Amino acid sequence: MTDNASDKPQTATGGQGQAMWGGRFSAKPAELMQAINVSIGFDKRLWAQDLAGSRAHARMLISQGVIASADGEEILKGLEAIGAEIVAGTFPFRDEYEDIHMNIEARLRELIGPVAGRLHTARSRNDQVAVDFRLWVREACERSAGQLEALQRALIAQADVYADALMPGFTHLQPAQPVTFGHHLMAYVEMFGRDASRFRDARARMNECPLGAAALAGSPFPIDRHATAATLGFDRPTANSLDSVSARDFALEALSAASITATHLSRLAEEIVLWTTPMFGFIKLTDAFTTGSSIMPQKKNPDAAELIRAKVGRILGSLTTLTVVMKGLPLAYSKDMQEDKVPTFEAFDALELSLLAMAGMVADLTPNTDKMAAAAGAGFSTATDLADWLVRTLNMPFRDAHHVTGSAVKAAEIKGVDLAELALADLQAIEPRITSDIYSVLTPAASAASRISYGGTAPAQVRAQVARWKELLG
Ligand code: ARG
Repeated sequence: MTDNASDKPQTATGGQGQAMWGGRFSAKPAELMQAINVSIGFDKRLWAQDLAGSRAHARMLISQGVIASADGEEILKGLEAIGAEIVAGTFPFRDEYEDIHMNIEARLRELIGPVAGRLHTARSRNDQVAVDFRLWVREACERSAGQLEALQRALIAQADVYADALMPGFTHLQPAQPVTFGHHLMAYVEMFGRDASRFRDARARMNECPLGAAALAGSPFPIDRHATAATLGFDRPTANSLDSVSARDFALEALSAASITATHLSRLAEEIVLWTTPMFGFIKLTDAFTTGSSIMPQKKNPDAAELIRAKVGRILGSLTTLTVVMKGLPLAYSKDMQEDKVPTFEAFDALELSLLAMAGMVADLTPNTDKMAAAAGAGFSTATDLADWLVRTLNMPFRDAHHVTGSAVKAAEIKGVDLAELALADLQAIEPRITSDIYSVLTPAASAASRISYGGTAPAQVRAQVARWKELLG
């Protein structure tokens, strides 16, 4: 079977009343063969990329003198008409033509006649699908990076407003030290910033054009691969024809970036689920981002957050699927690789929806600053500040200060009060050198404000990071 079969004189169905590659076949494929082979149901999503690749290829064939200008112009006009048909919804997508490449070529033949067959000169479906898919994944990476930036902007806007709103910082989901809500949101801005840069890195690495590798070995025609690469916005052509049609690591890399992004999204989603539960009550979502229960009228459920939390399954699953598809494949093209598209489309559909919904939810949320501030002081969250005061003011070794502080926590626990509510006499009973100055560090606000190290939770530091990111995002 040869992919260049369409260069031979054929009718629209391939001259044998069969598939376009049917020259050497005398019988039609079994229905089950067609059923397992057909990909038009999903690869029709590559129509715009396929047309772009064909246009670039046709123009190059004309300027290299491989096909006559008049034929090339006919082909270009036909491709334009096909684009208009697809946009108008009148294009006949047909299973008997297997995939998007042959559907478009068959339609081209119907529209402009046998000259359509010249388009496939010096080209194979192997390099055709490689360039189509690369273009699609490249665009998906660009979209994801853009949506990540939109999400970052939503987080930064909230962080700016709540740069000094106190909340408990947790480790092990136990109250640890007071932080600010702005600081907490800015942690995600950092994560999503790295995610966006991963998509940009992946895009830069994949930006080489496989078109012109033909079936696997290159082409005997005097094609100009640098020209088609430039037309399609690639930095250069790929340098090895076997690799060109075999490589799908660009998609694996994009799916890896998508999976890491999805894990970050799921962490923020989980926090939103926790924070909206009345026991936390840290934030409220409006009716726009919650749903009700059909049986419990009091409920407002954070379904969007829950679904975002779950989407990582689909996205990481897609990475696993494609990794397993590619593992152990001999060079060059194998039909296994047709299975690259569904997981990739599915993953990016899920990711893009999650990114948009998360940005919407972040913009929608309102923190209950009183409740968060009260929680920030609970659980003896300023114990470290007390210990630090003992070290700084009394020059106590930190280990001893830790011990003294433990005793103070125990005393407060017995009395049922916060550290800041312990009487000076109670503190002095534990360590006589303690003075009333200690109360200046025992409030959550003082604790947060004291954390002025670069990247710390002090409101001034949070504002500095907000300003830095605003500048970076432009
Ligand atoms: N539909 C195929 C795919 O997605 C296109 C390439 C087919 N090439 C071939 N030699 N049968 O991979």
